Amino acid sequence: MRAALSENETVPVARPGEFAPLRLGPLAAWPPIVLAPMAGVTNYPFRTICREFGAGVYVSEMINARGFLEGNHRTRLLASSRPDESPRSVQVYGHDPGEVGDMARALVDDGVAHLDMNFGCPVPKVTRHGGGAAIPVKPRLLARLVRAAVRGAGGVPVTVKVRKGIDDALLTYLDAGRVAEAEGAAAIGLHARTAAQLYSGAADWDAVGALKQTVRIPVLGNGDVWECWDALRLMRATGCDGVIVGRGCLRRPWLCGGLAQAFDGGGPDPQRTLGTIVALMHRHAALLVEFFGEQNGIRQMRKWCAWYTAGFQRSAAARADLMRITTIADMTAILARLDPHEPFPLKTVRHNRVKDNRVQRVTLPGGYLDARDDDTPPPEPDDPAERRAWDAALDGG
Ligand SMILES: Cc1cc2nc3c(=O)[nH]c(=O)nc-3n(C[C@H](O)[C@H](O)[C@H](O)COP(=O)(O)O)c2cc1C
Repeated sequence: MRAALSENETVPVARPGEFAPLRLGPLAAWPPIVLAPMAGVTNYPFRTICREFGAGVYVSEMINARGFLEGNHRTRLLASSRPDESPRSVQVYGHDPGEVGDMARALVDDGVAHLDMNFGCPVPKVTRHGGGAAIPVKPRLLARLVRAAVRGAGGVPVTVKVRKGIDDALLTYLDAGRVAEAEGAAAIGLHARTAAQLYSGAADWDAVGALKQTVRIPVLGNGDVWECWDALRLMRATGCDGVIVGRGCLRRPWLCGGLAQAFDGGGPDPQRTLGTIVALMHRHAALLVEFFGEQNGIRQMRKWCAWYTAGFQRSAAARADLMRITTIADMTAILARLDPHEPFPLKTVRHNRVKDNRVQRVTLPGGYLDARDDDTPPPEPDDPAERRAWDAALDGG
């Protein structure tokens, strides 16, 4: 079986010259693939794992301007990298133009080569105060923030990532694209769902096509790319300039290699066996421990153990034990119980294991829609508990 989706069985690999490298200002990326920023996931260890499979742009998880500028240890660690990572790409979040500009300058001074701005966070603790996905509802505020980042970044490219809008009745992505372009963004990425949808339903690739028809800057399509064939279909169907891939890489970072091969005109590798995945898990655990220290690194590895082993027969008992590991040796002993020859369960490729299928009603601040022309940054919550919840949501807490 070549693909998990029957529609993908007949998708041809890229023809020579069919696609161009992705241009982000002075950066050119081939294949035109961007690893989606994912909180708790796309830290330096995971980006390294992905990069070892194939080239592309590997974006950090979201870094909150406030935590970064205040020198929060965890935020700084997550924004950091190692000399072997190039180009270095960081996703930033901020709702105050002054902070966003300062953060962009500091990151660029530290060697960051690409900044991505997140305007898609659908978390209620953030949107109900006018942050995250609520920002594009106010195009002039969005413009101020993008302008501040572009100025702060000097010549380093700044891209913008949005959702389609708040819900089907309040779509903002076409205006966001126009604003991003006018303010000097190097590209716009669209997660083709609304904030109300969270991760449910199919991503609306037609919206990616509509955005491509609206702006001249490169458009990055995002949503539901689980196999390299999906990325080719998304680019062919919409004419978009690149593809952002998230959950497809979570438990299969080798998808980065398959994407690179498909864009180079070759077929992807055959699916892995559990034995090759166990070897990858050891590499991943070592990188996590080296970067975060033993205790924190192993704690993080537990969730990766669950993701990497999901769907394999007879792995359920091992998975429960893997949730309690405290050392790499514990992990090694448990993984040794599994059959290394078992092939990867292809039928699970398209399962959404990390985000469920909930939908939500997005809460905005009272009167928010009456002042859409307002460009004032959202005030932060006065209530200390609300303030802590907002900070925790933005700092990945
Ligand atoms: C665990 C997880 C964490 C995420 N964190 C972020 C984030 O920090 N910033 C962001 O812009 N999007 C974030 N996203 C959304 C992804 O970047 C991407 O837009 C979304 O998963 C859709 O792409 P996919 O269908 O390829 O997964 C996150 C998604 C997941 C699954």
